[in-house]
Amino acid sequence: MKIIKVPDYQAMSEKACELVMEKVNTIEKPVLGLATGSTPEGLYQQLIKKHHHHEVSFKNTTTFNLDEYVGLSKQDPNSYYYYMQEKLFKHIDIPREQAHLPNGEGDNLQANCQDYEQLIKAAGNIDIQLLGIGLNGHIGFNEPGTSFSSRTHIVELDESTRKANARFFSSLADVPSKAVTMGIGTIMESKQIILLVSGEKKSDAVTRLITGEITEAFPASILQKHENVVLIADEAALKDR
Ligand code: GLP
Repeated sequence: MKIIKVPDYQAMSEKACELVMEKVNTIEKPVLGLATGSTPEGLYQQLIKKHHHHEVSFKNTTTFNLDEYVGLSKQDPNSYYYYMQEKLFKHIDIPREQAHLPNGEGDNLQANCQDYEQLIKAAGNIDIQLLGIGLNGHIGFNEPGTSFSSRTHIVELDESTRKANARFFSSLADVPSKAVTMGIGTIMESKQIILLVSGEKKSDAVTRLITGEITEAFPASILQKHENVVLIADEAALKDR
């Protein structure tokens, strides 16, 4: 794992933007794996800025988001679909049909998961997967205990994850109890993974990620086995190292 230590959130976002742009500008048909949460917002702002300055175009880019809540409509401001439109897609030139998210709606969620896996495969797998990390070590919505060989699947969210994400909802009761997420096996097939971590509250998780035992009890620990991971973390997140 390559570790890039940066002073703060802004520097983390800028460094990540640089790496993403490098790929998007050199690969003919780049495939990006995208994440939500607070962590990648700064990166998306940077990418939008660079796009407006004509330094990057997403016309030939295909994207796959990591996860989506089950049961929230696309118009729901808390759906990740809505988040991606607002924070990135509507500000850049990606053709809408090339930007994919898992589908957490409908009667056959299982079929949605299989379709998503097919789409990723058909695109030739992910060139760069962006990742954040949950306090309990989750990646995407793969909670502790998820099999390392899992594919896109439906998950029951941990109480701690629902609490951590309740800040975006009007109340904890409104946070969905289920989500659909790329599996850990799916994520590990990405050619490169860029993991972003900022802030002191993530410092324990980062230490465990870098030096802890590789165990399904801490999903992010599997990243130690991936041959091309770049961790971009700020000083606060790396305070114990
Ligand atoms: C959320 C998302 C994850 C994200 C993580 C951290 O639940 N499903 O993909 O990486 O939690 O979020 P944040 O960046 O807001 O700390």
